[in-house]
Amino acid sequence: MVDEALASRVRFGDGCPERLAEAVRYSLLAPGKRLRPILVLMAAEACGGRCEAAMPAACAVEMVHAYSLIHDDLPAMDDDDLRRGRPTCHRAFDEATAILAGDALLTLAFETLAEEVQPPRIAARCCSVLAKACGACGMVGGQADDMAEASVEQSLQRVESIHARKTGALIIASLQLGALVAGADESPAGVLARYGERLGLAFQITDDLLDVRGDVSRVGKRLGKDSERGKATFPALLGIQESHRRAERLVEEACDALGPLEGKGAGLEALARCVLERNR
Ligand code: IPE
Ligand code: IPE
Ligand code: MG
Ligand code: MG
Ligand code: MG
Repeated sequence: MVDEALASRVRFGDGCPERLAEAVRYSLLAPGKRLRPILVLMAAEACGGRCEAAMPAACAVEMVHAYSLIHDDLPAMDDDDLRRGRPTCHRAFDEATAILAGDALLTLAFETLAEEVQPPRIAARCCSVLAKACGACGMVGGQADDMAEASVEQSLQRVESIHARKTGALIIASLQLGALVAGADESPAGVLARYGERLGLAFQITDDLLDVRGDVSRVGKRLGKDSERGKATFPALLGIQESHRRAERLVEEACDALGPLEGKGAGLEALARCVLERNR
């Protein structure tokens, strides 16, 4: 459902150069896990909302995510050549096209929220939540520190702060958007925020672990690059076993946080357990 919904939103009309459209579709529609859109849909469902009403918001977060991956892979950033099992966008096309495809996806995310989320008051709230999460104090700030941090001494607190912004913020925003489009009040939103904070950190720890001990044919990106580049990661600071234990503990805490939702949190609980077991 998510893949179809994404595809239907990148059939650009007049004015979009064909090569740019191809690059956008190449990256957005590549086989990712769609974790963030699924979080939007499950959060909406947990708050009593309908899946169809949550789909524009689900697409918007995946658009922001896809943009962040294209830019993360650029030579000036992580300089990667493999993503989702395929050449990265700047390898398949060229650097300028990749930068612009990222720009197009970021802006399309906000167009999608503004035009498709109803009522307009909720659309405006969604735009604000997503903008904050992916902006300078959120994802982009985390990415900036991730780039800068490679050469300096790393503390656990610092790595947690980077992970919370570069990865956690968009995961929490996905849950918040789901709650918003479902018309939820403060209480389930608070529950989801606690869940998302733990899940987001656990997700980036497992990403760091996959970089150390994953299987490239499953993960679909080049591995072993974090230590090569001196990145601030959990395995670098705590070792593999302790990092895995941290992730385990965080997933347990995430699931415990869902308590007040009763049966309605079952999907989110199962999803959190998948994050711990994931091999891609
Ligand atoms: C990769 O995210 C980048 C991180 C924030 C760790 P995902 O592991 O969700 O990537 P896709 O969407 O499945 O490709
Ligand atoms: C990427 O983190 C986070 C964002 C794209 C915002 P990583 O650099 O660890 O992601 P991968 O390992 O390249 O997917
Ligand atoms: Mg990176
Ligand atoms: Mg990277
Ligand atoms: Mg990584």
